[in-house]
Amino acid sequence: MRIVTIGRGMIGGGLAGLWRAAGHDVEELGRDGGDASHADVVLVAVPGDKISDALSKVTGIEGKIAIDATNIMPARQGDFPSYAEEVKSFTHAPVAKSFNMNFAELFDAVHEQRVRPSNWYVSDEGAREVTEQLIRDAGYDPVRVGDLSRARDFEDAVWLLMGVQPTGGVFYRFAVPGEL
Ligand SMILES: NC(=O)c1ccc[n+]([C@@H]2O[C@H](COP(=O)([O-])OP(=O)(O)OC[C@H]3O[C@@H](n4cnc5c(N)ncnc54)[C@H](OP(=O)(O)O)[C@@H]3O)[C@@H](O)[C@H]2O)c1
Repeated sequence: MRIVTIGRGMIGGGLAGLWRAAGHDVEELGRDGGDASHADVVLVAVPGDKISDALSKVTGIEGKIAIDATNIMPARQGDFPSYAEEVKSFTHAPVAKSFNMNFAELFDAVHEQRVRPSNWYVSDEGAREVTEQLIRDAGYDPVRVGDLSRARDFEDAVWLLMGVQPTGGVFYRFAVPGEL
């Protein structure tokens, strides 16, 4: 898959490394933007209050499936129903919200776990297949918790994850009985 990450920091750069290792062609863009016209999918991984600023500097984004990994911390900004909807206002195409409920500092340890950690996501139906594949290719098991109408709730749930308060972050795992 051809992937363009908008943001090349902890999340954008970290996922770029995992996806390249899985065989994908990944280009990373920083705050100066660039072109995404060749992408099959874009990842949005910039500070949550900089989404419109960052996406307005990226050409060729219209019509692209997007995975939005942004978080509302330290406080939600703007008037969109969700940050995922803010992304969609640029792409006008299916959007998923994913990787915002995972700790980038643990990316290097994903493949060392006894079982694959879970990764919650919400998405439009049209973003579902590509999102599940890229979650798996990063080393996680996808767990769909709703469609994109749940994006705001999902973004707000990050405060619950933060409440776990581990030093260095946590993995989490959801399993059906018999799977553990
Ligand atoms: N770190 C985590 O564990 C984690 C987990 C889940 C979700 N998130 C979310 O993912 C997003 C990215 O987090 P991160 O930890 O990867 O951040 P980061 O390491 O600080 O990287 C931020 C990236 O955004 C780019 N960017 C584009 N426009 C920008 C602007 N106007 N101002 C500042 N930076 C801009 C930066 O560009 P340059 O490269 O040019 O500086 C950089 O590549 C955030 O919304 C964060 O809340 C983070």
